Amino acid sequence: MSRIIGTVCLSHVPAIGGAIQKGLQDDPYWKPFFSGLPPVREWLQKERPDIAVVFYNDHGLNFFLDKMPTFAVGAAPSYRNEDEGWGIPALGAFKGDAAWSWSVIEALVAADFDVTTCQDMLVDHAFSLPMTMLWPGPGMPPVRAIPIAINTVQHPLPSAARCYALGQAVGRAIAAHAGNEKVVILGTGGLSHQLDGQRAGFINKEFDLLCLQKLIDDPQALTGYSTHELVRLAGTQGVELLMWIAARGALAGKAREVHRTYHIPISNTAAAIQALAAA
Ligand code: DHB
Ligand code: FE
Repeated sequence: MSRIIGTVCLSHVPAIGGAIQKGLQDDPYWKPFFSGLPPVREWLQKERPDIAVVFYNDHGLNFFLDKMPTFAVGAAPSYRNEDEGWGIPALGAFKGDAAWSWSVIEALVAADFDVTTCQDMLVDHAFSLPMTMLWPGPGMPPVRAIPIAINTVQHPLPSAARCYALGQAVGRAIAAHAGNEKVVILGTGGLSHQLDGQRAGFINKEFDLLCLQKLIDDPQALTGYSTHELVRLAGTQGVELLMWIAARGALAGKAREVHRTYHIPISNTAAAIQALAAA
């Protein structure tokens, strides 16, 4: 049986990549965010997970509006990152594990999740930045990744309840997986932000803090929000909260908060890092 050690959910704002490239981590603007990473890295170094299941949302690098899967699972031996036009360096290939991916896919399809399977998949900043923040170079992260993309770009989006159920099914797939690997679940994006339209710059601290608390002790409560309520409360791009909800679904049962950072703003975004250990 493989075992989930916990979740790490964190923002993936592209400007973070620029700050890393320019070495601005101790700059007053960036320090409150970057100082949240060492405690999480230390926890990961202690736990040494073998596999990272990464719930993230592709922003148009691998999927575009012409073909938009609701849920897509990577099943490739490695995942390339390419230039998306944010001015951040394209990284090398992240390690995958196709056999592990297929075992998760088999379980998801058996549980009636009709996922898109991707034997070739480019990963964008929503995958590459969290991986590099948690396992900084030199070299690529030591974990083998299973990317799971959730559509938050083109409506209709999957509901919070469906994303939570997807996470639960992933959690069951991991528990049933033969072998004794340690697995960490990542969820990337959020928290509240809106990049465009009349509410550009919208941030909702009260809602974010409520979500951070619910993710610890009552994640089911977050499944009651409709997609439109989430857009209203978290912003059009703040619906990336769905990744956090899916990640928490995978971590069944009680959780203990290992670390939390909440800082406003990074770019237009309420930036957050939350690590939860299986309790
Ligand atoms: C920003 C946030 C995102 O989630 C994203 O994908 C792109 C940009 C931002 O705040 O700048
Ligand atoms: Fe995003």
